[in-house]
Amino acid sequence: MATFNIAVLPGDGIGPEVTHASQQILDAVGERWKHNFRFESDLVGGCSIDAHGTPLREETIGIAKKSDAVLFGAVGGPKWDDEQVRPEAAILGLRKALGLYANIRPVKVFPGMEDASPLKNDRVRGADMVILRELTGGLYYAKPKRRWQNKSGRKGVDTLLYAEKEIERIVRVGFELARSRRKKLTSVDKANVLQSSRLWRDIAIEVSKDYPDVELEHQLVDSCAMLLITRPTSYDVMVMENMFGDIISDEAAVLSASLGMLPSASLAGLPGSDSKGKAKRVRGLYEPSHGSAPDIAGQQKANPVGSILSTAFMLQYSFGLLEEASAVNNAVEKTLNDGFRTADLVGAGAEFSTTQHMTEKILENL
Ligand code: NAD
Ligand code: IPM
Ligand code: MN
Repeated sequence: MATFNIAVLPGDGIGPEVTHASQQILDAVGERWKHNFRFESDLVGGCSIDAHGTPLREETIGIAKKSDAVLFGAVGGPKWDDEQVRPEAAILGLRKALGLYANIRPVKVFPGMEDASPLKNDRVRGADMVILRELTGGLYYAKPKRRWQNKSGRKGVDTLLYAEKEIERIVRVGFELARSRRKKLTSVDKANVLQSSRLWRDIAIEVSKDYPDVELEHQLVDSCAMLLITRPTSYDVMVMENMFGDIISDEAAVLSASLGMLPSASLAGLPGSDSKGKAKRVRGLYEPSHGSAPDIAGQQKANPVGSILSTAFMLQYSFGLLEEASAVNNAVEKTLNDGFRTADLVGAGAEFSTTQHMTEKILENL
C-alpha cells in the first residue's frame, strides 16, 4: 500500500468547508484503490494570526515542504483587513517558498450546465480552456514594493518585473499543455504599453520555434477580456503574467457558472512522462481558485466542486494516480448531470444542495 503525505491547510471562511469535502473524497479514493493518504493539518491565514500572531509560520512551510502535496482552502476575511501583515501573505509565501510558478486553472462548461451561466447558452456551450498563470513573479513580488509619505503626499509602488528565465519556463509549460490538447496557445500581454510585456512577447516567439506543431497567437489583455466572453470557444491554452491571470481567471469562471466550480493546481513545473508513459510526480499545492467567501461562510452554501476538482489534479500531478483522478472528475460530472446544484448555481430562493449533500452525491458516484 503506497503512502502519500498531504499537508492540509484549510484557512479561513469557507476554506475549511471545501477542504473537508476534499478530504472525504481522498478517504474514499484511498479505501477503494488501497492507498494510504496521511493528513497533517495546520493553521494558515487569519486563523493563524489569531493563534500565533502571524499568517504563515516557518513550521508550516516545513510541513508543506516535507509533504507530497498541499491541500489548501482559502485565506482572508474582513476581520483581518486592517492587519499589518494580512492573511493573504500566507498563500503568497507558500507559493514562493515551494517554487510554484505554474498555476493551472482550467475552465470548462460541463454539458447541461449552460443554463447555470449568466451568459447566453450558445456563447458558452463547448467552452473548454486552460488559463496558465505565472505565479511567483511580476507585480506580486518584485521590489520596490512599499508605501511612503513626503511633502507632496502619500505614495505607493509595486513593480512589474520579469526575468527572461521566469518568462521562458512558464511559456514552455504553456506550449507543453497546448501540445497535449488542441495545440493552440494564446499569449496574453499588454505589449502596446508595457516593457515587461514586450519582453514576454519576444520570448514567447523564441520558444515557439521548439513547438512548430502548436499555433501561437498574441492578444492584448484588455481586448482578451472582452473576447473571452464573446467567443470563449476560440481558446485552448492561455498563458499570462501573474496579475493578468488573477483577473482573467475569475472572469472566465463566469463561463462555467460560478467561481466555486474552478479548481487550480500550482506546480513547480509540469510532470514529464517516463518511457512507460506513466506520469512522474511534481510538487504541487492544490486549491480552488476562489477565496474565503465570508458572505456565505458557515451556511453550507459553499460549492465544493472547485476544491474536489483540485484534489483530482493532486492525484494526477503529484501522485501519478491517473485512473483515480479521472474517476473523481467523472463523479463530479455525473453528479452535475444528475441535476444536483449548490446555492451558487441556482437562483435566489430556489432549492439547493448543501455543501455536505453535494459531497455525498459525488462520493456515491465515485
Ligand atoms: P471570493 O472568491 O471569496 O468570493 C467572491 C464571490 O464568489 C462571493 O460572492 C462568494 O460567495 C462567491 N464564491 C466564492 N467561492 C464560492 C464557492 N465555493 N461556492 C459558492 N460561492 C462562492 O472573493 P472575495 O470576496 O473578493 O474575497 C474574500 C476574501 O478571500 C478576501 O480576503 C480575499 O483576499 C480572499 N481570497 C483568498 C484566496 C486564496 O486564499 N487563495 C483567493 C481569492 C480571494
Ligand atoms: C487567488 C487569490 C490570491 C491571488 C490572493 C488571495 C493573494 O486572489 O489565488 O486568485 O491574488 O493570487
Ligand atoms: Mn484571485
